[in-house]
Amino acid sequence: MSKLKLVEVTKSYSTKEGPLPVLEQISLEVRGNQFVSLVGPSGCGKSTLFNIICGLVKQDSGSILLEGEEKTKPGDLISYMPQKDLLLPWRRVIDNVILPLKLAGVSTADAVREAMGLMDVFGLKGFERRYPWELSGGMRQRAALMRTVLAKKDILLLDEPFGALDAITRFKMQSWLLQVWHRFKRTVLFITHDVEEAVYLSDKIYVLSQRPGRIKLEVDVPLARPRIPGMITGAHFVKIKEKILKSIDA
Ligand SMILES: Nc1ncnc2c1ncn2[C@@H]1O[C@H](COP(=O)(O)OP(=O)(O)OP(=O)(O)O)[C@@H](O)[C@H]1O
Ligand SMILES: [Mg+2]
Repeated sequence: MSKLKLVEVTKSYSTKEGPLPVLEQISLEVRGNQFVSLVGPSGCGKSTLFNIICGLVKQDSGSILLEGEEKTKPGDLISYMPQKDLLLPWRRVIDNVILPLKLAGVSTADAVREAMGLMDVFGLKGFERRYPWELSGGMRQRAALMRTVLAKKDILLLDEPFGALDAITRFKMQSWLLQVWHRFKRTVLFITHDVEEAVYLSDKIYVLSQRPGRIKLEVDVPLARPRIPGMITGAHFVKIKEKILKSIDA
């Protein structure tokens, strides 16, 4: 079933210099439990598209369908992790991650109990009472992801969650994210600049052009799951990666 569908979404920002076309006729589809990535150059409108999907920015034309319908409150189905991790610096890890549960009306005691049970899965056991500035970059991203997952929405929008991490940490986080995705059975739309990351994680990839972002290519990734690190040098993996790189260059 189609969980999220975009039909010809177009957007320009008005600026002092006149209209800035950012997205042009974006159509895409994410089915339930799929992991779909958007790959595209900096400034092509990826974050804008996420803001449109969750209703923070209004498109000029085109529609967003959630489970086949245009929703007035997309937030009921979507949990969004913005590009910058937005942990509240004055709250400890535990108090940051339980925020969505508290907003949903869960008591603090119940929210804390649930979150404590997941600290191990998110690699944060022993750090529950630390402040965000006491964590490494990878831990902060895991805390932000934990908060996104605890919102218990069907669809996760993840905007370059690993963009600022070093290559080794990033690689560990990718494998870990796949485990979390598998365990919590969510639908994911994921933004990245990194083609290898997209192929490793996804069922399907959309490649966007330079601004104004248009869809240049749609690629299915029929690699077996679970994905394992050794796959990235396999012939099939490399072929998919090359196809995407070629389309980015074209
Ligand atoms: N509120 C805004 N008003 C005017 N222009 C904006 C606004 N937000 C973004 N832009 C412009 O729209 C374009 C797309 O921005 P956006 O953040 O969507 O790109 P992106 O693909 O997410 O880039 P990156 O990969 O660097 O995160 C950029 O040129 C940006 O300057
Ligand atoms: Mg962005």
